[in-house]
Amino acid sequence: MNFQIIRYEEIDSTNSEAWRLIDRHASANTVIIAKRQTKGRGQRGNSWQSDLGGLFMSVILQPNLAASQANQITLWTAWGIAKALNETGANVKLKWLNDLLIDRRKLGGILTETRIEADKIRYAVVGIGINWTNEVPDGAIALGELPTTLSSMDELIEVVLLGVEMGQTQSDRKGMTSLLAEYLEMLSDKNVRKTINGRELQGQIIDIRPTGELVVRWEGNSSDAIYQPQTFSVGY
Ligand code: BTN
Repeated sequence: MNFQIIRYEEIDSTNSEAWRLIDRHASANTVIIAKRQTKGRGQRGNSWQSDLGGLFMSVILQPNLAASQANQITLWTAWGIAKALNETGANVKLKWLNDLLIDRRKLGGILTETRIEADKIRYAVVGIGINWTNEVPDGAIALGELPTTLSSMDELIEVVLLGVEMGQTQSDRKGMTSLLAEYLEMLSDKNVRKTINGRELQGQIIDIRPTGELVVRWEGNSSDAIYQPQTFSVGY
């Protein structure tokens, strides 16, 4: 892919900037990178702490996908980035649907946003945040502290873009099935926990569907439950 990179010292959110650029006819494979964000956005309406030293990047894509397949973009991106980072000596695992973890701590996350027209994805903005040398919140980890072959933010950017490209190419050429089998193997933990009326339920992730839904087998239940990414969290 021929990525066109646009860099900013500071911006509200690289995802928001990507949408503004799309409105001004930016093309697919445009990449927006900022050193800091003042209104970084995370999943489920959370904000994303965006201090100097972190990687804040958005990639504009125009995948040929139906609206119902939007979660595939997050799945292939997470898979591709984790694989590419692991080539540098890191040990990145995944947390369904959009988290990158090392040692069960959050290394980064992906926020995919889409514009739909006639039930098809017209544009996708894939926002990627990765802790590099920034201060991280409790429960998170920064890649720059760990022994890898990466020695600069620019090298990190190169590897992450390679991961995005690998993910898209793999899903285009080989389909989601093979990729999902590997995604499942790269999960940090297949156990899930949920508390209902004060009672803790334990379950096992047994599958992830190409639409991104999680299939969980709860202990003591004969039928499997299916969850949407927007409404269920695996609880670790
Ligand atoms: C998550 O909640 O795990 C997803 C975090 C995504 C953060 C990135 S940083 C670059 C891009 N711009 C944003 O405002 N958010 C994403």
